[in-house]
Amino acid sequence: PNAIFGEARKNSAGVDLSDPLVREPLLGRLRAMESRTYEAAPTERSRGEHPIRRITSPHDDRIEVGIAHEATEGAIDRAMTAAAQAQPAWDALGGEARAALLDKAADLFEDERETFFSLCIREAGKTLPDAVLEVREAVDFLRYYASEARRQFSRPMPLPGPTGEVNELRLHGRGVWTCISPWNFPLAIFTGPVAAALAAGNAVMAKPAEQTPLIAGFALELMHKAGIPRAIVQLVPGDGKVGAALTSHRLTAGVAFTGSTDTARMIARSLADRTDGPIVPLVAETGGQNAMIVDSSALPEQVTRDVVASSFQSAGQRCSALRVLFVQDDVADDMIRMIAGAIQALAIGDPGKITTDVGPVIDAPARQALRRHLDWLDLHARKIIRAEVPVDLAEHGFFVPPAMYEIESLAQLTQENFGPVLHVVRWKSGQLDKVIEQINSTGYGLTLGLQSRIDTVAHYIEQHARVGNLYVNRNQIGAVVESQPFGGEGLSGTGPKAGGPHYVARFATERVTCIDT
Ligand code: NAD
Ligand code: ALA
Repeated sequence: PNAIFGEARKNSAGVDLSDPLVREPLLGRLRAMESRTYEAAPTERSRGEHPIRRITSPHDDRIEVGIAHEATEGAIDRAMTAAAQAQPAWDALGGEARAALLDKAADLFEDERETFFSLCIREAGKTLPDAVLEVREAVDFLRYYASEARRQFSRPMPLPGPTGEVNELRLHGRGVWTCISPWNFPLAIFTGPVAAALAAGNAVMAKPAEQTPLIAGFALELMHKAGIPRAIVQLVPGDGKVGAALTSHRLTAGVAFTGSTDTARMIARSLADRTDGPIVPLVAETGGQNAMIVDSSALPEQVTRDVVASSFQSAGQRCSALRVLFVQDDVADDMIRMIAGAIQALAIGDPGKITTDVGPVIDAPARQALRRHLDWLDLHARKIIRAEVPVDLAEHGFFVPPAMYEIESLAQLTQENFGPVLHVVRWKSGQLDKVIEQINSTGYGLTLGLQSRIDTVAHYIEQHARVGNLYVNRNQIGAVVESQPFGGEGLSGTGPKAGGPHYVARFATERVTCIDT
């Protein structure tokens, strides 16, 4: 049993890819699924035509993965109305009944995990190890938020006090939540906020990123199959305009957004300007300018392994990924040489191959933005290594070479660069406080890594760094649901932490009943 939060709950077991007897047959089945195509459409279809988006693979734009029918304004309005009408009955079901349906959805996700693996690889360009983690996290969100529905929504909380009356607090759904997700966790971060909003008794408009509607469509199919009513959780595929139409709709009672800081600001502005409905809460999980601090007591092999995982796994397309490595100057040359050697050894390629370490970035605009940044670094920084993208990949895939550049100061970076690019800054012994100042002055506060064997250094950083997740002597990606609640502060998000004990309640409204006996 967990001493603080009650009974222990098991997270999903995932797949042991190190076992060839598991891995090889799985790869064979995934190859057999390569010719499948998929379709996603709004749960509430409109009578007229829907704009169509063709989805191709980021590693090879000749591969068709499927098509998405995108939502129109008319469809959004009807979807919202149906959801608002159905929501009170969903809320009245209570925490236990909703939890049972979320648990059922988690079971179906696990049964269908190989379809999700295939979609993660083909639609989002994820490697198989990343795809396995992605499905695990989605399943864990469903089960954890189900357990939170049981804990917080099944019975009223009795309130102590001297009034002599019976005082009780109950949590209820607010109405219809709009949940908008990014492409970089097309299943886990799509599923997490949707599951939390459902657990809390809300109906949900689920808008996936325009790059990855097919995974989301399949996830919704399974939620409906689990028994969650179609009016209660609806897919609304489309781009940012569809997202804006949802957030500004008069029936939206809450918005959960994961994506860039700029888009979060835009949504916050549009919610503030609304005059035709309630004041709408916003849960925003956004970007980062994440650092790792290495001092001279750190173990070089461990630093190398953790830096490479933090910066280049998922082709650097994690909000948690390491962007700026601060290395103490007396060990910097050796550390940089070892890390550069490890970067040189990374295999860039088809994410479907088990030998691939670094797959593609998501699309042409993402590659273009990263190329521009690399060109800027060529002029303003010292190049340590910029790997080569094999010529046969470059023509049809969106590949960016893993790279490491030394810069003078973190202040030179004015935005998050969302890909496999690592920046290195040297720091002088005795100036740890200046390093923390630089990191805090970005205004972001998502992840921070520390590699040090000195307890007082860890303690100092824990006290002074304004970040949501601090990782000591390990990599800084892959937070585990419930054990490592995840999310940042400042420009990195509003909180509460995904996969943490305060998350689901943020999707609810609190009501107190007072009965005079
Ligand atoms: P993005 O902001 O461009 O898009 C995210 C979502 O918002 C998409 O579904 C998009 O269609 C929608 N959108 C765009 N404009 C909108 C508008 N005006 N109104 C409503 N919705 C709108 O972000 P992205 O490029 O898809 O994702 C990458 C970003 O996400 C990075 O900055 C990354 O750090 C961040 N991220 C953060 C976390 C976290 O937990 N903190 C997790 C994953 C990704
Ligand atoms: N939760 C994801 C991670 O920790 C974003 O990498």
